[in-house]
Amino acid sequence: MSPRQARRPRDPSLPGQAPLDESRSRLRLGWPGRTWEPGRSLTAEVPGLATWEEPGGLPRSDGRLVYGDALDVARALHGQGMAGQVDLVYIDPPFASEAAYVHEARLDGPADGRVIRAVAYDDRWSEREGLGGYLDMLAPRLEALAALLAPTGTIWVHVDYRANCLVRLILDEVMGRDAFVNEIVWRRAPNLGRQAASHQFGRTLDTIVVYGGVRAKLAPPTRLEPIEPAAIRRDTEGRPFTTAPRGDYTDESIARLEREGRVHRTSTGKVYVKYFLVANADGVLCRERRVDALWTDVAPLRHARVGERTGFPTQKPRALLDRIVACASPPGGLVVDLFAGSGTTGESAHALGRRFVLGDASALALATARARLMRAGVPLRLERCGPASVPPGAAARAIATRGGHQVRVDLEARDPLAWAIDDAFQEGRPFRTKWHSERVPGPRSLSVATAATLDAPPGPIAARVFYEDGSVATCFAEEA
Ligand SMILES: C[S@@+](CC[C@H](N)C(=O)[O-])C[C@H]1O[C@@H](n2cnc3c(N)ncnc32)[C@H](O)[C@@H]1O
Repeated sequence: MSPRQARRPRDPSLPGQAPLDESRSRLRLGWPGRTWEPGRSLTAEVPGLATWEEPGGLPRSDGRLVYGDALDVARALHGQGMAGQVDLVYIDPPFASEAAYVHEARLDGPADGRVIRAVAYDDRWSEREGLGGYLDMLAPRLEALAALLAPTGTIWVHVDYRANCLVRLILDEVMGRDAFVNEIVWRRAPNLGRQAASHQFGRTLDTIVVYGGVRAKLAPPTRLEPIEPAAIRRDTEGRPFTTAPRGDYTDESIARLEREGRVHRTSTGKVYVKYFLVANADGVLCRERRVDALWTDVAPLRHARVGERTGFPTQKPRALLDRIVACASPPGGLVVDLFAGSGTTGESAHALGRRFVLGDASALALATARARLMRAGVPLRLERCGPASVPPGAAARAIATRGGHQVRVDLEARDPLAWAIDDAFQEGRPFRTKWHSERVPGPRSLSVATAATLDAPPGPIAARVFYEDGSVATCFAEEA
């Protein structure tokens, strides 16, 4: 890649890329019934955050999962002094798709068997406030999230053809046109079936719009691209390479590449740049190429292993979030996703050694993300923000049988997604998870364990049960 291409397009040192005049680069958008007033959401009263579950016995939690509207949660994070601290905001909000999305829990694995269906979230606007309502939902949330960014941070908004133009314009108003970093196009599905037969080009793409402050920098990865055998040459030491025209490399850059032994001259003196090749896992010689903004190499979720699929509609693949988290946040950095759905962003952040705050306004999303993150071994804190209250679940019964220092707890509940035990529960205090179990999705879905034996002090024992529809029941165990 040429040094010139490697720079951000809005780098003021590039010809014709002087920063836009701030006052002239800010738009003021209009839509019928617009209620969003920039700046107002951040000056309103800050909603409270309350912890309602935390890891028992652990000094800290790496991840936070908050039940609440993204605007309330973002404002609460501001209230906790998090403005300017966040390395990466990734959100995958509703796309104005006019659909109500249904979660499917396949209790017996992906084949035939029992399925529990429940509405996960509603993205229908035309019968309510219309597109203006969608914009009034999205704009203040984007504004509050953008204000959390560190000077080097970026905000990534995952949408599709229905909302990408809207998100670009809102972010132009919120952050200025000069804050645009990338529009990434991700091929999320092959062009098959109805799409291929639709008498138009298949709508198989999602768009991820990226904005950031003046110091924002991403670290795009490289990928291995197989090279045709006919295009492979070898140097005098036998090292395989391929060549490409010099493109827009300057004379200085060519001189530098020449010193590095990376210039190939033809018999007529024409200059080509040499790219040394490496073998991939199958032994095929490949050129290492920097990934650009067209992502065709991240497979759709349906190609991910069955155990990755939670049944949450619109879940994104781990591989996609792994790429985003790795290139847009440093190890130990802070990642925020307040439209978290099944918790993909949190799972990636944890696996890559980043801290995270997730949030969602759907109780079903919260239960799904909690189960997924607990299965992944994340020390997790659950919080509630604003007026959101978790729907009460069907009554559950727990029976405690004591023997010495130990207690066995048996659970009676219908098809729980997950449950946990607190061996010193007190009303009004967060539930402290001493033991937990979650249903495992996969080719053979595994139900939760129905009994647990643990060391426990004398005193009340409580069980908390999460159901597939997001409802929750907490009960004291009856002594046998
Ligand atoms: C497209 S899904 C996110 C899927 C997620 N990326 C994943 O991999 O599972 C959008 C999520 O936004 C949530 N949501 C919608 N409106 C919200 C709001 N105002 N505040 C917080 N969450 C909201 C929905 O409940 C839903 O879980």
